[in-house]
Amino acid sequence: MENNRGQWGSNLGFILAAVGSAVGLGNIWGFPYKCGANGGGAFLLVYLILAALCGVTVMLGELAIGRKTGRGAVGAYASLAKKYTWVGYMGVASGFLIVGFYSVLGGIVLRYTLGFLLNLFGAVGFSTDGFFGYWIANMPGMVGFYAAFMLINIIIVSGGISGGIEKFSKIAMPALFAILVVVIVFVACQPGAAGGYKFLFVPDFSVLASDFFNVLKTAAGQMFFSLSLGMGCMITYGSYLSKKEDLSGNSVIIPVADTIVALMAGMAVLPACSAYGMEFGGGPGLLFVTMQTVFTQGMGGFIGNLMGFLFYFLVLIAAITSSISLLEVCTAFLIDKRIEKGQDPARKKMTLIMAVIAFVVGLPTALDGLGTNVAGGAWMNNPAEMFGLPVMTATADWLDFYDFLAEGVLMPLGAMVMSILIGWVFGNKMVSDEVEASGHKFKGAKYFEVCFKFIVPVIMAIVLVAQITSFLG
Ligand code: PFF
Repeated sequence: MENNRGQWGSNLGFILAAVGSAVGLGNIWGFPYKCGANGGGAFLLVYLILAALCGVTVMLGELAIGRKTGRGAVGAYASLAKKYTWVGYMGVASGFLIVGFYSVLGGIVLRYTLGFLLNLFGAVGFSTDGFFGYWIANMPGMVGFYAAFMLINIIIVSGGISGGIEKFSKIAMPALFAILVVVIVFVACQPGAAGGYKFLFVPDFSVLASDFFNVLKTAAGQMFFSLSLGMGCMITYGSYLSKKEDLSGNSVIIPVADTIVALMAGMAVLPACSAYGMEFGGGPGLLFVTMQTVFTQGMGGFIGNLMGFLFYFLVLIAAITSSISLLEVCTAFLIDKRIEKGQDPARKKMTLIMAVIAFVVGLPTALDGLGTNVAGGAWMNNPAEMFGLPVMTATADWLDFYDFLAEGVLMPLGAMVMSILIGWVFGNKMVSDEVEASGHKFKGAKYFEVCFKFIVPVIMAIVLVAQITSFLG
């Protein structure tokens, strides 16, 4: 690449960074529970089929657009055709919406990691039994740890592509994997762990017959958020990839690795719950209430603190490698603009500007105490209370409101439009030319063409409708 935007040092570095983006909170608190509650192995089968049809296709489309244009989301669409620049803007908007609340959650994970570390050294890491309820209404704490987590992002992203994101991912991802293996093995040795594996894996095909549409939409929504698709993240990461590398191979490796880690997360979390008689659940409750109880009361003592520290540290790594990719989508937008004008990228400054904007945009998601509201001790009310709206998932707290806009609307729409553009406007040839630019033969061109033209738009339309109805329910 002739300009000074930056480039991955190696294909492995790119893969670790891209898998790092994909593997995040979605894998740890979303996948295990959704899989278990929706038919176990039967859900997994649907998930795998969707990942093969839709995940790999959108991944390839985004990587190809990014590498072909050498630009982030906005610049990429602008250079393909000016009139589609808005698709790129939807991606950057999603980046802003998500990176804030993701960092609020990352801040809580950071607090838990430090809590268990303090416990390990004999200090009091957690002030109360029901720590989560106390913490989310503790505004200085929530905002302070939100800021600290954002600062970690700023430090890494301002270090650049190979010197920041890649360097961090190359250490963090193997560490995450190793810790996950340790936790899985330890949990497997606990009596009663088998209940978790049963919940996760034993297929219940009757769910497919009775509630197929529900399983389909849950799996599809989970799949594309978990793969960081639909908001130009992989366009941005693809734009730093050398023309030598094999795009279609990479588009398969990333979803496969993400799914393996999601299953491994399930094998850590669910058996731990069942071994200590905890209810299976999903979301923040699973991560911050159930798992904390598993470590402090179930395992208890030194080993509980050690495993608790290791577990939250691995979640912290997963959250950081995802949030840096979100911040990078926003930062790349400004950097591309400067390069277009012939200015130097000024990456450090641009990262700081975008992080500060993202921090301010994300503040309400911390200040309403995840829906605790002023009455519960937070400093701000949720959207329902503030605007007198009916209470539904999308208005119950600011985090869900932002998530509704991004994951519910902008991202499925972004993936759908991209697919339609490749399938019907730019043409599949654009993708095959880009794949073959590296000298690798593009296998399965026909398969991808059918996916871009028909399958992805239909699945994404289903996700869009399903997300909107569930957020507004
Ligand atoms: N894939 C991340 C997760 O599973 O938690 C979330 C995410 C990161 C979504 C980056 C989108 C994105 F661009």
